[in-house]
This record gives sequence, C-alpha cells and structure tokens, in this order.
Amino acid sequence: MESTDYEDVVSAALEKHSNTEGGLLPILHEVQDALGYIPSDAVDIIGKSINRSRAEVHGVISFYHHFRNHKPGEHIIQVCRSEACQAMGANLVIENLKNKLEIDFHETTSDGKITLEPIYCLGHCACAPAVMVDGVPKAKISSDAMDGIVDELRVLKNDN
Ligand code: FES
Repeated sequence: MESTDYEDVVSAALEKHSNTEGGLLPILHEVQDALGYIPSDAVDIIGKSINRSRAEVHGVISFYHHFRNHKPGEHIIQVCRSEACQAMGANLVIENLKNKLEIDFHETTSDGKITLEPIYCLGHCACAPAVMVDGVPKAKISSDAMDGIVDELRVLKNDN
C-alpha cells in the first residue's frame, strides 16, 4: 500500500474521532482495520493531531495485544494462550505450528504468507483449544487439523 493510502486512512479516522473524548482507541482500530497494522509514520500524525506524544500513542499500541506495529502476512493465525486452551493442549498445537511455519509469535513466514499471533481467550473456552484464522474462529483444533489449515492457506489468496 502506498504511503498516500495510509495517509488517507489516518485522515479519515482522525476526522471522525479526533474531537471525541477517548478518541485514540477508535482511531487506532480504524487504521488497523483498514491497513492491517499501524504504520510508524501514522503514530506521529495521530499523536500530533490529538495532542499526544509519540510515546503515549506508542504506549497504547504496545499495551493492547490487538494492535500491530508491522505489516502482517497475507493470512493471520491467532492461537489462544489462555488457561482453558492450555489445559486442552494448546501448547502442543503452538509448538507444532511454530515448527511448521518456522517462525515464532509476532513473526511472518519468509514468503509473507502467514503471520502467527497469540491471543488471550476467544470466548470459545468450551471448544478449546481454539484458534482464529483470518478472523474466523476454529474450535477443538488439533495439530493435524492445524497442519491442514496451514497447507490450505499457503495456496490460498486472501482477497480481504
Ligand atoms: S481460553 Fe481459549 S478460548 Fe477461552
């Protein structure tokens, strides 16, 4: 995406929320929803527009696991790391996934296809272990099932 595109996205978000009390979070959500992440240059623009320092805006981005400060891969796999999922074998799924993708959490495969992220409770604890693939929840996931999903994602183009 060209820089002018991100500037347009940031401007639109600022126009909607910069005069609203607590507008920073909606601004960040809107930028990430549109771009998949919050570019470093956008942090400066946002901070200046709402009279916050770069450090303050960056602090909010870092505090919430939801926000990304780097461009994600074409597909995003989020694996729940909370208690119920851990109790049902999520750690094994995570280890297999990391080995298969050859990346750690918060990294993207070298072909730019898949980003792996931790997430903390998807609200599907009764169906643990749970993952989210491109925003779609998957329940009672096994390592074999996850391998199959990864193989499909590697050949699948994400049109979102
Ligand atoms: S603990 Fe994993 S979905 Fe709730």
